[in-house]
Amino acid sequence: MRVLGIETSCDETGIALYDSERGLLADTLYSQIPLHERFGGVIPELASRDHIRKTLPLIQEVLDKAGATVADIDGVAYTAGPGLVGALLVGASVGRALGMALEVPTIGVHHMEGHLLAPMLEDTPPQFPFVALLVSGGHTQLVRVDGIGHYRLLGESLDDAAGEAFDKVGKMLGLAYPGGPRVAALAEKGTPGRYEFPRPMTNRPGLDFSFSGLKTYVRNTLAEARASLPDGAAARDIDEQTRADIARAFEDAMVQTLVIKCRRALQETGLTSLVIAGGVSANTRLRVGLQDMVQKERSQLFYARPELCTDNGAMIAYAGCQRLLAGEVASLALDVRPRWPLDTLPPLAQARAL
Ligand code: KG4
Ligand code: ZN
Repeated sequence: MRVLGIETSCDETGIALYDSERGLLADTLYSQIPLHERFGGVIPELASRDHIRKTLPLIQEVLDKAGATVADIDGVAYTAGPGLVGALLVGASVGRALGMALEVPTIGVHHMEGHLLAPMLEDTPPQFPFVALLVSGGHTQLVRVDGIGHYRLLGESLDDAAGEAFDKVGKMLGLAYPGGPRVAALAEKGTPGRYEFPRPMTNRPGLDFSFSGLKTYVRNTLAEARASLPDGAAARDIDEQTRADIARAFEDAMVQTLVIKCRRALQETGLTSLVIAGGVSANTRLRVGLQDMVQKERSQLFYARPELCTDNGAMIAYAGCQRLLAGEVASLALDVRPRWPLDTLPPLAQARAL
């Protein structure tokens, strides 16, 4: 089955064509970052308008890349939530219209299920059951995964998501949006240990997270560093080394906190496979820290290549394909959901023979 995937939940238009037998045939990604950068964050209305401009041309581009035409599409999957409602509606409308015109089934995919299953697109995919750490701009969750749609939430962030904390710290450090990769790059030049930030909620039982205190530590440390500068100085006036050292302390605290909670989740569930997914799973130090931990725990770590960790159309095409193969289809009403808890998804019906 060949499925066209359309991802328009936030600030990236991702399109892909996935074949259940041959794998990923083609994909493309258009990022709106330059559009939103000067505002320091995503402006929903501008995001919707840009998705409208880009979705159809990008679908054509993917078909051309794959040497295919619309007649080769057997099903259409689009992100139905969670995300920005206007942005979601663009992908949903285009996806449903295409499906009706081509007389092929369509399906609305849960964005986080897409992230969660993205490592399945790699050569050595994880086997169920596993523990998944979902770390994106909007979510930080530990989930027990017994199969597609069999999700049990083990813990989640009580305030900011990991990616959101990276982005806010980036802003404090005077870096451009989105801060995550930029904080990571700055941290590379930092001296480990010059500053020591707490590992929130690790000294009590449980698998929930909280990152707002960590953010306050960064803010206070920057304020102290700024105190020795002339009045009116901004964070970016602080010397590069100090800023890098603060970025490093933040990244180390974030990574160690996530590592401690993942170890605890593996121990508590007795599972030996850990999957990390979502934008922050592209973070090198997180991958290294978790790799180290799973080795000691005699477990295995799985993640997707960096471009499949952040938002993309391939993960939506893959997740949608699995659900379409099992006979699921979208209802006739346009079904987008800005908020949509992952653990309310239905378990996948028994897959049909291909
Ligand atoms: O999954 P994603 O692309 O979009 C959402 O579903 O939110 O995640 C985006 C988040 C942003 O907060 C971004 O700063 C963060 O992932 N991110 C990173 C890295 N790459 C992306 N954070 C830390 N290190 C990175 N290398
Ligand atoms: Zn995402």
